[in-house]
Amino acid sequence: MKRDFIHITDFTGEEIHQTLNLAAKVKRSIKNGERFLPLRYKTMAMIFAKPSTRTRVSFETGMEQLGGHAIFLGPNDIGIGKREAIKDIARVISRYDDIIMARLFDHEHIKELAEYSSVPVINGLTDFNHPCQIMADIMTIQEHRGDLNDLKVAFIGDGNNVAHSWINLAARLSMHFAIATPEGFEPDTEVVKKAREEGLSKIDVVRDPEEAVEDADIIYTDVWASMGEEDQAAEKKKKFQNYQISKELLKRAKDNYYVMHCLPAHRGEEITDKVMESKRSIVFDEAENRMHAQKAIILKLMEIEY
Ligand code: CP
Ligand code: NVA
Repeated sequence: MKRDFIHITDFTGEEIHQTLNLAAKVKRSIKNGERFLPLRYKTMAMIFAKPSTRTRVSFETGMEQLGGHAIFLGPNDIGIGKREAIKDIARVISRYDDIIMARLFDHEHIKELAEYSSVPVINGLTDFNHPCQIMADIMTIQEHRGDLNDLKVAFIGDGNNVAHSWINLAARLSMHFAIATPEGFEPDTEVVKKAREEGLSKIDVVRDPEEAVEDADIIYTDVWASMGEEDQAAEKKKKFQNYQISKELLKRAKDNYYVMHCLPAHRGEEITDKVMESKRSIVFDEAENRMHAQKAIILKLMEIEY
């Protein structure tokens, strides 16, 4: 049975730890100048219905570093759901390539792509989830803190795709996850309910950013208007005014807190320029780790030793 990585919860807690260890190993060897090419002659099809910097460059570079090749397919190439049926695309690409990564709007579309592909499918972001981001995030936290014990993560802003994948992670690894959102922008209640039912983590959905940040180790944010919400940007900007990560808000956090952002950031909106540039900001380590975490996810799904 081939495996996919559509949701963080597609992996068990143990598999998440194994993947993080593998990611650290791959990162170390690349930094040491070693080059193993376990993906020689293997190809990845990358389907993008939305723009990207990190996802595209990190997957393409990561494939190359492991000896493989990635094929970029932009919005005008495939036309997911428009030019031909998703199940046809899935079966055709499965005949050419060894693995598929897709960034789509509709989450149902990536599930359908995975259902009909005979090769593994990785979710490179949908409107509902962004699991690769959160694997890189937790890897970065582990590197900076040394462990994941007694972790409190405060997410300030929109209960969006990134927030949902964080909550999925809280269903697999123990943490205190607190999210503060304006009214009407809370994370999906089913996602929260399911994560709570796992009984591993404390999950708070609150209104007040200060309450969420209280004694947090990690203060995390994302853009207020996600890709595809451009028409709501002005309206959201008004509603999210009190949800900016500023020096003032960070006074509530633990002394040795870190600030994270999946990027792209809108400085002056969800985060101040000062905070982005501060010593406690680990956003670029986080961005780098997209590449290492994803290489580990690819190797795991393809069942290839490193
Ligand atoms: N964080 C992230 O997924 O970045 P891109 O949208 O640039 O890929
Ligand atoms: N929530 C953002 C994440 C970008 C990486 C979006 O979907 O645009």
